[in-house]
Amino acid sequence: MYHGLLFDTSGKCVEIPSQEFIPPAAKVRAYPVVERFKWVWIWMGEPDKADPSLIPDTHYLDDAGWRGTPGYMHYAANYLLITDNLLDFSHLSYVHETTLGGSSKYAGIRPKVTRSGHSVRVERWLIDDEPAPFLSKLKTWHGKNVDRWNIYDVVLPGVLLMDSGSAPTGTGAPSGDRIDAAQFFGCQAVTPETVNTSHYFFQQSHGFALDDPSVTENLRQSVLAGFEEDRDIILAQQRTLDLTPHAPMLAMRMDTALASFRTMVEKAIADERAP
Ligand SMILES: [Fe+2]
Repeated sequence: MYHGLLFDTSGKCVEIPSQEFIPPAAKVRAYPVVERFKWVWIWMGEPDKADPSLIPDTHYLDDAGWRGTPGYMHYAANYLLITDNLLDFSHLSYVHETTLGGSSKYAGIRPKVTRSGHSVRVERWLIDDEPAPFLSKLKTWHGKNVDRWNIYDVVLPGVLLMDSGSAPTGTGAPSGDRIDAAQFFGCQAVTPETVNTSHYFFQQSHGFALDDPSVTENLRQSVLAGFEEDRDIILAQQRTLDLTPHAPMLAMRMDTALASFRTMVEKAIADERAP
């Protein structure tokens, strides 16, 4: 940028303002990218292995049936601490008590965890309980008990796709009837920057009250407040790990999904490094 050199999409320099001759060495590395639904997906591995069919479906980011505000955070932490957090929602009761969480009952749910080739799926249902604090703020939901779900996939290398929502309790949501439901779709992409820093891109969209900007704004503020709570905890984890890198770990039942995902990541890294 300093000298105004211009490069084409292959990384070749095509213009140097002060001279006609462009030395062949004037080039930068190019990466395959795909723009889809407002996000840019970059493949940083061997270019011939880039496979756009592996890009997860995030059409909720750019769909007339959904409303949401894009968000971004920078993290001074390893990206796997963020995916650990996303794979264990039992923290909602404690870290997000007044924002995204709610009663301690939520932490007691035993989620259904299933593993497939490139992702881990986590399903949680909370039946007949108060709505999450951010939903309670809306008049329609205040003081009404709901059946609440969070069903999500965390896809390699660190993309979360989440169907979540609440329906008036007893209207059949667990068996598939989403009557008068408040439905959300969350897309989050955790992108490693360095060993100890990460980019975090996200958008939580709502599929109800599409003509009410106050719902979008309430959701934006609640998600941001919640994600700042996560960041405080995760940065504290990172600092503790830096100070005591050999501290023994104790696995608990709530670690099932994140342990599966970490195993999947390790395998993908080993496969990529194999000759
Ligand atoms: Fe969280």
